[in-house]
Amino acid sequence: MGWVKATDTTGLAAGKTKKVMVEGIEILFANVSGKYYAIANKCPHMGGSLSEGTMENGIITCPRHGSKFDVKTGKNVGNAKLLFLKIKVKDDRSFRVKVEGKTIFVELE
Ligand code: FES
Repeated sequence: MGWVKATDTTGLAAGKTKKVMVEGIEILFANVSGKYYAIANKCPHMGGSLSEGTMENGIITCPRHGSKFDVKTGKNVGNAKLLFLKIKVKDDRSFRVKVEGKTIFVELE
């Protein structure tokens, strides 16, 4: 599919995230120190909405069971916790991003 116009930089200040539906995929856009990144919004554990989580230093925490993902790569960097169990969670899908002017494009396969 290639590069698809997804959103713009408005309302996506440094440290902020934004959920956008692009071609039927919910994508979480994040601004980390002025650079933009995109990962799937749906947590690979049990589908929690990462846009409802909190982001600190480019690491987003799922609001459902607390697994953590690096928004730059989608890599899982913290396990989910269910009661006393720690559960290994897969990496999230990440997407390449480019910005032209104020427009953010995402690369889809
Ligand atoms: S749904 Fe995200 S950690 Fe469980």
